[in-house]
Amino acid sequence: MQPHAPNRRSRLARAAALAGALTILLTGCVSNASQDSLKAKGSVARSLDSLFVPVFWIAVGVFCLVAGLVSFCIVRFRRRSDDDAPKQIHGHTRLELTWTILPALLLAGIAIPTVKLVFDVNSYPKNAPVVNVTGHRWWWQFDYPNTAVHTANELHIPAGQKVLLVLTSDDVIHNFWVPELAGKVYAIPGRHNKLLVEADKPGTYYGQCAEYCGTSHANMRIRLIADSPADYQAWLTSQQVGPPTPSAADSTAGLTLFQQKGCAGCHTIQGISAGVVGPDLTHFKSRSVFAGSIFDNNDNNLRAWLRNPPAEKPGSVMPNLNLTQDDINKLVAYLDTLK
Ligand code: CUA
Repeated sequence: MQPHAPNRRSRLARAAALAGALTILLTGCVSNASQDSLKAKGSVARSLDSLFVPVFWIAVGVFCLVAGLVSFCIVRFRRRSDDDAPKQIHGHTRLELTWTILPALLLAGIAIPTVKLVFDVNSYPKNAPVVNVTGHRWWWQFDYPNTAVHTANELHIPAGQKVLLVLTSDDVIHNFWVPELAGKVYAIPGRHNKLLVEADKPGTYYGQCAEYCGTSHANMRIRLIADSPADYQAWLTSQQVGPPTPSAADSTAGLTLFQQKGCAGCHTIQGISAGVVGPDLTHFKSRSVFAGSIFDNNDNNLRAWLRNPPAEKPGSVMPNLNLTQDDINKLVAYLDTLK
């Protein structure tokens, strides 16, 4: 080995580490981040943000004070000769009182607004609309109580109104998080945790399962669509109507395949099937994404999905049904009618 090799290697490693750290730091500068909890777009997220800001500046103040004092002491009290010892301050009552009382006051200053906010975000308005949310590996189910509306991946809420989400899970622990609208709350099997969300304006807000839940944890995304109150009512009404009976030859054949190939055992389509393993497909085509919100809902992506679901989303519960291209085309033709 050449004498300089280890040196060069360690220099390279240091440069790589620095480049990596800088890259991570610079990702904080993107302006179009759609999952940024510092850009609150609703009252609930804003109240969390309003707590973060003062706590952050208190922390900055503490950091500057501590780092400043340490730097000052390093320079001012550095050892100047071998027998140079600093003046001992053990038992200095005034100093010890200061560094006990000051942090206690700081912590109290942070604790009071924090505890108040915990109670605020956990007080739910009585008339808030409710949506039941169930986490599955790896997609989200949304049920609207007192209606026949059951959907997946895309959550519709009315804008400008607090909506109460009641979260649970069908398998492992998941975590529901739409950073621009609210904090994150666990979806736990056998429990019903509550989360208030509100969007100021109509729009699409993005989220993500925030608790590692297996192979496709990263593929368990959320699309929250806030509609104007009129659009929301129209959406809710349209979702309660059953699917149309397919009329074209290929979509009719697709419906038959849906019942023969086992799809019906796992998926509900109102009036057709009652499976509860996978998402309710009654209005599948009214959704813009599928499979944990990772694919745009178009024929090409659907064909790829039906060909081999676990290859498209690792660990997918939906198996490869070994469908022929002809079967796939017919099934897609049928799915396209489920508007
Ligand atoms: Cu569900 Cu991570």
